[in-house]
Order: sequence, then C-alpha cells, then structure tokens
Amino acid sequence: MKVVEGITREGGVLALGGVPLDRALEALRRREPAASACWVYDLDQVEARAARFKAAFAPLGVHAGYALKANALPAVLRRVRAAGLAAEAGSLGELIAARREGFVAGERILNGNGRTPEEAEFAAREGVHSVNADHIDELDLLQHHAARAGTSVRVALRVNPGIDTHGHAYVATGHDAAKFGVAPAEALEAWSARARWPSLRLDGVHLHVGSQILDPGPLEAAADTARELAEESARRGAPLGLVNLGGGFGVDYSGAGPEFPLEAHAARLARKLAALRVAWVMEPGRWLVAPAGVLLAEVLWVKRRGGTSDAGSRRFVVLAAGMNDLLRPALYGARHRIVPVRARAGKEEPATVVGPVCESADVFEREALLPPLERGDLVAVLDAGAYGAVMSSNYNGRGRLAELVVDGGRLSRARAGEDAATLGARDVDEALEG
Ligand code: LLP
Repeated sequence: MKVVEGITREGGVLALGGVPLDRALEALRRREPAASACWVYDLDQVEARAARFKAAFAPLGVHAGYALKANALPAVLRRVRAAGLAAEAGSLGELIAARREGFVAGERILNGNGRTPEEAEFAAREGVHSVNADHIDELDLLQHHAARAGTSVRVALRVNPGIDTHGHAYVATGHDAAKFGVAPAEALEAWSARARWPSLRLDGVHLHVGSQILDPGPLEAAADTARELAEESARRGAPLGLVNLGGGFGVDYSGAGPEFPLEAHAARLARKLAALRVAWVMEPGRWLVAPAGVLLAEVLWVKRRGGTSDAGSRRFVVLAAGMNDLLRPALYGARHRIVPVRARAGKEEPATVVGPVCESADVFEREALLPPLERGDLVAVLDAGAYGAVMSSNYNGRGRLAELVVDGGRLSRARAGEDAATLGARDVDEALEG
C-alpha cells in the first residue's frame, strides 16, 4: 500500500524505497549498538525528483544547481549529479564538497551574503559557473582575486525585489527588511558601471525570494522582476546574459495537498520568459530531497500525565530523536507527519510527541493523532530529507545521528553516527599567547 511517494506499507510495516524501516534500525545496530534513531534517504527517489525537475524546466534550458545546504550527504550529491544537475554552494565548505563529488567548475554556483577572501579565491582559481554577489563592495573583493589569478569570474548581483512570499518570516528573503541583496536601482547602476571590475563578467541578476513556497505567485513575480531588470539594463546599454531565479519550491508537509505545481509553473515561466535570450539558472534544494528522507526514532517512553490545572490528562510520546536532530519544528513551528513504523491496532488519540532535550521547544507535534504506542516502538518523521541532518547539533551532549541510504532496495550506512563518548574530540588545552 502506498502511503506517500516512495513510502509503502508492506505486511503492516512502513518501507522506504522498498526497505522495511524496522529492518533499517536493526541493521544499523549491528554497527552502532546504541543507535536508537537515524536518518534514512531513498536515493532512487532523489534521482527521480532531480530528473523530473530537470525535465520540467528543460524547455527554458534551465541550468539547475542543487542547493547543497538542504542535504550535502555525498551519496545524495552523487545521485543529483547523475541526474544531470549542477551544484549550488553557500560556503567554502559546500564548494569543496561539490568539487569532491565531481561537480566541475561550470557546475558550481556560489552564493552567500558573507563573502570571504577564501571563497573569492576559490572562485577565481578553481573556477565556478557564477558567483551571486550580495552587495556592491563584494565586487571589489571578487575583482581583486580574479585579477590576481588572471581569470574572469562571472557574477550575478542578488537583487532584493521587495516580494513577500507569505511564508514563515525566517525563510522569507525577498522583502525589504531581509538582509539579502541590493536594491534594484543599485544593481542597475552597477551593471552600467561594469567596466570598473574588468576581471568580472558582471552580467547576471539573482533572485531568491524565500523557501517552502507552495503558491507559485511570488516565484512568478520574481521572474517578472528579473525580466524587467534585464530589459531596463539593456535599455541603459548594459545587457544581461544570466538570470538566476534561485530556489524556494515547497513541499506538502501536511500530506493533504496541494503540492507545488512544478510542471505548470515551469510551463508558465517558459511562456513568459522565452523571449528573453539569457542563460537561466535555478537553485532547488528542498523540493528535490525533503520527501525522500525520514527521521526514524524509537519511542523511549510514553508518559501519561494527569491534569496539572483544569486540563485533562495528556499523553507524551518521548522519542529518541530531538530538536538537536530535527530543528525545524522548534525553529519554524514546522509540522512533519509522524507515522508508526509497525501498524498498531487501537484507537488513534492525540499525543504530544517530544524529544529528550531539556527545552520546552523540543516538541515535534503537539496534537499528533497516534494509535497506542509503547516503549521500543518505532516511528518515522516524514519529509525529513531536507534541512534535517544538516541542521543538527550536539546540543545537550548528543551525538549526531547516522545517515543511511537505500539504493535499488539495498541499504547502506552513508555517514556514521557520532558516539557520545567521542564528543570531546575537539577539546584542547593550548596556550595561544605567551
Ligand atoms: N538559493 C539560495 C540563495 C538559498 O538561500 C536557498 C535556501 C536555496 C537556493 C534553496 O532553497 P529551497 O529550494 O531549498 O527552498 N532551513 C529552512 C530553509 C532555509 C533555506 C535557506 N536557503 C527550513 O528548514 O525550512
């Protein structure tokens, strides 16, 4: 029985990419006996989604760079690359990770609003497809490194278009108060003055208005802004050759729909933008990987607490994973579906599903409808393939979890979990002066 794309229930057990998830944790325990939670990703689904994204935007000839910040596990990068996507890096670390997995210069797009000399030097010496510059002074730094390396670096200016995505404030980036980008007028001035930076090919515009966008409206508005800017810059004698529309494509975490209308959006953009003769770039992250991953966790305890005020009793389900593993619920109030791995008889009743971290914000879901659960049961937190493991931390002295992958029905461990006993590995006692 299909539960969602890539997730089925076979003989009562939830399976990802054909692998029963109870077997996944059992198998991990042969290597990590203390493991009681882990991430599992379905690589076939990642590749299928990457191929679907590429096909949808093929009519516009979009060069799609996968946003590594969503999930930079090497096994994931390899599958995204196999589907023909490029890589979008937000830092030197992600540039290096992209290079390590075989993304060549023309397949590396560099972002970030805190450009460092090391990133500028990497872009100039090792090569990138383009750099998205976040402000005008950054161009001087890029110019300096490109001139020193004797190369030319292609640069798009990130423009803050003043578009509201109506999503969570923390993932909205294109409005006036957001820290990203320059004003449209500043970008137009810089493109016209491009001769000031002779080692840069300053002919691009970059817009990324936010993340987890389900209504294509704001993305279309951003595309309109890009077209208007390209037309205006051409009128001023400085034509653009590159338009990067960023990422932001949302996924349906509720499971109740609607999903982001990818193909329809792509078709509309193709109709709207076909007349503009530029190179198109996009930077999808979440849409490619979120549905392909789950956070698997054991139930440590089920606590029923009698009412402490007028309220009735509550059922708390304490998982072996917490906010240090999946931060999204605590940080954004994000809601991920939580599903028992083995089907359980009994009436579904509300439960507050929490982690073991000493914070009241360590709550996955306040009103999950779940059947009776017991210690040792397993649950899967769905759609955890994006902005999950990459945002995890050692808070509360907790080791980061192992990451498993399913590939053609075969399960492997792609990243080991951190052993609590080795968490002190970075602690030193070194005099730095005198
Ligand atoms: N391009 C740029 C410049 C970005 O900043 C981002 C994401 C992307 C592309 C990819 O966006 P996507 O297609 O994944 O929406 N941690 C948050 C999401 C933060 C997104 C940051 N930037 C979350 O868990 O919802």
